[in-house]
Amino acid sequence: METPPVLVDTRGRVGLITLNRPRQLNALSDALMDALGAALLAFDADPGIGAIVIAGGPKAFAAGADISAMADWSYMDVYQGEFITRNWETIRRVRKPVLAAVAGLALGGGCELALACDIVVAAESARFGLPEVKLAMLPGAGGTQRLPRAIGKAKAMDMCLSARQLDAAEADRWGLVSRVVPDEALLDATLALAAEIAAYSLPALMAIKESVNRAWESSLSEGIAYERRALYARFASADAHEGMQAFLAKRRPQFSHR
Ligand code: CAA
Repeated sequence: METPPVLVDTRGRVGLITLNRPRQLNALSDALMDALGAALLAFDADPGIGAIVIAGGPKAFAAGADISAMADWSYMDVYQGEFITRNWETIRRVRKPVLAAVAGLALGGGCELALACDIVVAAESARFGLPEVKLAMLPGAGGTQRLPRAIGKAKAMDMCLSARQLDAAEADRWGLVSRVVPDEALLDATLALAAEIAAYSLPALMAIKESVNRAWESSLSEGIAYERRALYARFASADAHEGMQAFLAKRRPQFSHR
């Protein structure tokens, strides 16, 4: 039987997707990205899931796009096949929080996949890099766009133009990752964080994610106006009233995710 390119599991309200091509260091083939996109959309549509974790293996989160497939592609292949746009960008449609658990190498498309997640938890062994320049390619899955927004132009240029790799401590200092944990604690720590997040009101989480993402794509005035509308909309939510009433009654809130 063929090995599935991703493994899918649930832990309470958390959906766990594990990239599963360890012998190719989780190189992101089309089949893997199709399967990842399908798993993300399935968890996004599942009312029992409040947050999603994408994990790799101990040696590699992912070593980038699958060079063995790309090596033979022509311009027409990638243009007509909408390489990246067709399946890698599925993650942009996910409205629930997505966390990356990164150990080992996150290179090229692997680094870009982590950058597309909402929260990145890194193990001490994590290494982030965009080595595409070595192939005379470029980081084409959002790397040249998300990286400068995440860490600033000077650092992004350094990584893209020199293929410099960051270790976990540097990535943490530069704001590329959210937290660094020991390797042996990575999955448990990420799942625990995801469970903590998933216990909050789902529509509140989605509104927060939308609002923070809006900060990347709009002026401050537009972003603030968007945020204010999102705040006003919270007053139409049963959970927001429950949250505030529970606070006043000094009890735990019972969220209905409505
Ligand atoms: N694509 C396809 N196969 C890959 C791969 C990739 N990106 N990365 C590693 N592999 C394969 C290797 O070919 C090797 O396969 P075989 O055993 O069949 O030879 C296997 O995984 C193990 O790799 P190595 O033997 O090379 O392991 P290593 O520990 O010596 O080196 C490495 C690890 C430094 C990550 C090295 O494998 C490497 O440089 N990989 C390529 C990294 C890269 O350039 N990524 C960017 C891809 S381009 C991209 O992502 C474009 C984009 O923006 C979408």
